Amino acid sequence: MWKSAIEDAVEKTRNNIDRFGELFPHVSMKGRYELNDNNDWTDGFWSGLLWLCYEYSNDSVFKEKAKQTVESFQNRLNENIVLEHHDIGFLYSLSSKAQWLIEKDEAARELTLQAADKLLGRWREKGQYLQAWGPKYDEKEGGRIIIDCLLNLPILYWASEQTGELKYSNIAVTQTEKSRRYLVRGDDSSYHTFFFNQETGEPIGGATHQGYTNGSTWTRGQAWGIYGFALSYHYTKKSAYLETAKRMAKYFIQHLPDDYVSYWDFNAPVDENTPRDSSAAAIAACGLLEIINHLNEGDLERTYFEDAVQKMMQSLVENYSTIYEKDAEGLLNHGSYHVLGNLAIDDYMIWGDYFYLEALMRLEKNHRGYWYE
Ligand code: GLY
Repeated sequence: MWKSAIEDAVEKTRNNIDRFGELFPHVSMKGRYELNDNNDWTDGFWSGLLWLCYEYSNDSVFKEKAKQTVESFQNRLNENIVLEHHDIGFLYSLSSKAQWLIEKDEAARELTLQAADKLLGRWREKGQYLQAWGPKYDEKEGGRIIIDCLLNLPILYWASEQTGELKYSNIAVTQTEKSRRYLVRGDDSSYHTFFFNQETGEPIGGATHQGYTNGSTWTRGQAWGIYGFALSYHYTKKSAYLETAKRMAKYFIQHLPDDYVSYWDFNAPVDENTPRDSSAAAIAACGLLEIINHLNEGDLERTYFEDAVQKMMQSLVENYSTIYEKDAEGLLNHGSYHVLGNLAIDDYMIWGDYFYLEALMRLEKNHRGYWYE
């Protein structure tokens, strides 16, 4: 089943190369991807999809297109095009870092290190955190961290491995610790965002940006947490990070509906119109598969996570993917970007497509994504 789902994804991505041209897909509207220049937080996912398709098919069409996107990412860094946010990690892990991992291309490694340096510019010394969005000292955004940032940290851990300089991993560890302490709650659910006093670093409180309420658990945020803490464990081997990833994963699994694909927020009231977020399920599946890699075979927890991830992925392929829609542009239906903001509800999300294919490649090929060497 995984193989035919991957082959379908590869063919759809092949068709999209001509459709998208020089542009980058973001989210869909009425079944068509909205395309933009390389200027959004999501543009690395298209590169990552192309690299995964290249690795599966060995077809140079994917490699050439992926390399073109990396050139565009070089230009984006040179020109500093909309990089005043922490998603530099997403952008460059899946574009230039993927190229480095696959081809050992020195220019791609150098570009990724430059991107890691740029991300360090988000570090706020007084508060000891990476500011998610907006300029330094911004009245509203200056004190904000968000749980999504955990997926931006691998580029920093990697930069320390590559250069031997600890400045990157020290910041990644501090951010991971801060996220455990303030974003993850006592019952293993999570805040989407948390605010600190910019001058003193004193904690102010948790809030949401894309979730149902400030105290609710936005499912994609929980998924970023699962995968992000598991990746921090991969790099640091600090057992607390694996423990946090496992606990957040259990919360996620225990709150899933019968078909194993999450609604958009675990606290949103559910009726027949409540939107799902299939992208959260795809991200969580990658996180579960990363956790499983760190557990011994036969371990009861490992069996529990294996069972859950099989059910989630089966449901995604059978009920949510476009495997039975030959001409579809996207791979995964029923993602939700920002429900209360009325943005892309029940649509394709390019990150949903990327993590869906990464999860399939993990299951079929023991692939590990592009987050570490
Ligand atoms: N990182 C932004 C989002 O998940 O929507």
